[in-house]
This record gives sequence, C-alpha cells and structure tokens, in this order.
Amino acid sequence: MKNKAMVIKLNLIAAACENMGIGKGNNLPWRLRTELDYFTRMTSATVDKNKKNIVIMGRRTWDSLPNKFKPLSDRINCVLSRSDLDLKKYQDVHTFKSLEQCLEKIGNSEFRDRFETVWIIGGTNVYKESMESEQFYRLYLTKIFKHFDCDTFFPKIPDNLIEVRDPAVPEGTQKEKDVEFVYHVYENPNFKAL
Ligand SMILES: NC(=O)c1ccc[n+]([C@@H]2O[C@H](COP(=O)([O-])OP(=O)(O)OC[C@H]3O[C@@H](n4cnc5c(N)ncnc54)[C@H](OP(=O)(O)O)[C@@H]3O)[C@@H](O)[C@H]2O)c1
Repeated sequence: MKNKAMVIKLNLIAAACENMGIGKGNNLPWRLRTELDYFTRMTSATVDKNKKNIVIMGRRTWDSLPNKFKPLSDRINCVLSRSDLDLKKYQDVHTFKSLEQCLEKIGNSEFRDRFETVWIIGGTNVYKESMESEQFYRLYLTKIFKHFDCDTFFPKIPDNLIEVRDPAVPEGTQKEKDVEFVYHVYENPNFKAL
C-alpha cells in the first residue's frame, strides 16, 4: 500500500511579472498590498478551524521575510536547506534537508492530522521540484502585467496544465497603483488522487 505521503497535494502559489521574474535582491520586486493579502488569505484559510496549512519554502525565501512576519502566522512553516539551519527559537517552524524528506515527514508523522493544505511558496528550485513531482496538483499564479527588473525567475511551466476556477480566487483584472494583474489557477492533469 502506498504511504500517506504519496497523496499530499502540492499547491504552488507565486506572483510573476511579464518576464516571469519573481524576485530581486532577495526581495519582491514590487509592492502590491492586494496581492500580498491574497497570498496570506489563500495560504492561511482552512475549512477545519482546528487545522492549519503548511507553507514550504526555500531558505532564501525564509530569509527574505521581514522579522515581524517571521514565521508566517497561522501556518506551519517548513524551510528547506541543505545546511544545518537552527530555527528552534520559532514555534512550529520545521527544517528539512530536501523536499522529499519534508513531504515524507508531513505525511507520516504528527503533522498528518493537523494540516489541511500544503502550499509551496518558492523560490525557483522549490517550485521547479514541486512541479516535477507526481504530487503537483495546482499552480496559483498571479500574472502581473508589467516588467520589473528581476534576478530570480519562475521556472518553466509544463505545457499541459489546464486552467481551472477556484471560487476563492477573484476573477478578472485587478489593479493597484496602476499595476494590473490577474489571478490564474492551473491544474496538473496528471495528478492522480490515490
Ligand atoms: N514572487 C513570488 O511569488 C515569490 C515567492 C517566493 C520567493 N520570491 C522571491 O524569490 C527570491 C528567493 O528565491 P530563490 O529562488 O532565490 O531561493 P529559495 O528557493 O527561496 O531558497 C534557495 C535555498 O533553499 C534551499 N533549497 C532549495 N531547494 C532545496 C531542496 N530541494 N532541498 C534542500 N534545500 C533546498 C537551499 O538552501 P541552502 O543554501 O541553505 O542549502 C537554497 O540555497 C527572493 O527574491 C524572494 O523575494 C518571490
């Protein structure tokens, strides 16, 4: 029988500008309050109020969070690093040496009964590995209709994804400070709930 870790659905969430840039100088290249609020709402919302969602991120994304937002509140934070990170001073923050190790742990340990949704929140390699995984379920991608100077980019998106609707996602063009953006949701047709 396949173990529970195999059925974890990976939901990716990212915002990218016209050149598919996602970051600059280990920060976001833009300041879009509405988009950040959307990120917080999507990654925090649970149906079961006794559960939290898991956010999985690379070490640089963790480093990029301002101290006052660290760890991301009301979510179980998982940070990937190949070195020995010590984040024990933070409550409910967990470190893993690989994505595989992380998924195995959250699917089989004490985590299993206390989380609802797994969100992959970047950066580049963590998105890439997640989209290559058979557990890749959805990509929530905000497309920003502007070019920003970036040094970090979203990886190549598989051609076969299908655009779907999620009632929690606002439709149509959003606008803030003259910057327009659209929330898209893409599903991996190869994902099989086992
Ligand atoms: N626009 C968006 O939606 C969005 C989302 C997230 C981040 N960002 C931006 O993107 C930038 C950060 O992303 P990034 O791609 O540079 O870095 P990142 O993926 O956040 O972090 C890279 C680090 O994570 C660790 N790591 C990555 N994959 C791993 C794996 N499979 N196993 C173990 N460790 C792994 C390694 O840490 P060690 O070096 O410690 O081994 C690696 O150096 C920032 O500018 C941030 O603001 C934007």
